[in-house]
Amino acid sequence: MENVIQYINSNKEKYIEELKDFLRIQSISSDPEKKSEMQKAAEFLMSKFSDMGFENIKVLNPGKGHPIVYAEKIVDPKKPTVLFYGHYDVQPVDPIELWTSPPFEPEVRDGKIWARGATDDKGQLYTHLKSVEAYLKTGNELPVNVKFVIEGEEEVGSPSLPKVLKENKDLLKCDAVVISDTSMYNEKTPSITYSLRGLAYFQIEITGPNRDLHSGTFGGAVMNPIQALCDLLSGMKDKNGRITIPGFYDDVLQLTKKEREGFKKLKFNEKDYMKQLNVKELFGEKGYTTLERTWARPTLEINGIWGGYTGVGAKTVLPSKAYAKISMRLVPNQTPKKVEKLLKDYLKKAVPKSVTYKLETLHGGEPAITPIDNEAIQVAAKAMKKAFGKEPVFIREGGSIPIVVDFSRTLKAPVVLMGFGLSSENLHSPNEHFDLENYHRGILCSAYFLNEFKNVK
Ligand code: BES
Ligand code: MN
Ligand code: MN
Repeated sequence: MENVIQYINSNKEKYIEELKDFLRIQSISSDPEKKSEMQKAAEFLMSKFSDMGFENIKVLNPGKGHPIVYAEKIVDPKKPTVLFYGHYDVQPVDPIELWTSPPFEPEVRDGKIWARGATDDKGQLYTHLKSVEAYLKTGNELPVNVKFVIEGEEEVGSPSLPKVLKENKDLLKCDAVVISDTSMYNEKTPSITYSLRGLAYFQIEITGPNRDLHSGTFGGAVMNPIQALCDLLSGMKDKNGRITIPGFYDDVLQLTKKEREGFKKLKFNEKDYMKQLNVKELFGEKGYTTLERTWARPTLEINGIWGGYTGVGAKTVLPSKAYAKISMRLVPNQTPKKVEKLLKDYLKKAVPKSVTYKLETLHGGEPAITPIDNEAIQVAAKAMKKAFGKEPVFIREGGSIPIVVDFSRTLKAPVVLMGFGLSSENLHSPNEHFDLENYHRGILCSAYFLNEFKNVK
């Protein structure tokens, strides 16, 4: 074990250079023009596994969606097995003009590596490849069996993976699923995430008159679809930030007293937070703290709204159509299916006769929560303490990783969310980066985890 740690400590530079190679690949899953880059990213990973002497390296979904890469190293079937999951796909880069250095030309500045995918999730994922490699390169046997499942469709809702998990239950059998695709509470505090929010994403189209009209000739005679849309949207939430769609809170798992006390102990600094975001006041559901609202309460956000004339200058038009994208973050025990039904019921009642509407469901994902007293999580806590020199905190997360629920349901193994990112690292935004200190500690943490996990079963 000691020489493994030593090896990791003396290869920092190599790890950065290799991550740069990975980050140069433009693996944007939502862009059909980047299909060959997706392939390239998958091949990059497979060649790394092959260099390490992994076996059974393959694509689990040939020809069906972006490649899901599998690789394993079974040292002894009697030993416990750890399955690492991560994603090599990244979000689009727009608005490109706001990047200080180009998104696919990784650069090191201020102890951070800057590129699209640096923290979400290439950098975090890569920690586990390097920890495994450190064992093998130093002539050690891996302390446990290791499997990897790395997909290229996480950012588009993991459409292929649920079926692949079901069809490969035996191949993927394991004692814990470890995922590093979440944030730490702050840059110095290692954190284990025990709950993620789910997601239900929709697009609404409102149609008024059959064509765009002169707003002078027709204004006053017919309902403006943008007006109708705004009324519908504002009818979904009240002034206290509470969602007013009937039944929306029915299934919400309430925070326990212990949880609320735990959150309070984290001493969240609202003033700093406001300063970082340059807002004078925070807003959210009344009766809950900021951490409670972002981690453990459901929300509804308007993600985009358009219609009518939005070009330069003025155009006096009464539009025919209006659109909005809205999404809800869900908490245990809400489901995207049920919420969709509630939204449909609301629209049926609330849309005025003067317009028609269409509702499209874009993607959804279930929320997740794991009990923190299971052995795998305790092992992760030990590993984090060793790597970061500090006891980890247990947190929840406002973001979503929809596949987490499928892992625990299909493979019946505990899922450990051991993230090394920071919420300030601009994931999904311009100037995404990853703290190199946390990259290094992540590799150490993964190595400690594997070593500690050998005693579990
Ligand atoms: N890694 C994120 C999840 C996440 C977000 C973790 C914020 C920690 C902080 C993941 O890649 C992601 O972006 N998930 C999407 C869901 C998906 C269906 C597009 C999300 O949360 O919006
Ligand atoms: Mn991610
Ligand atoms: Mn993401």
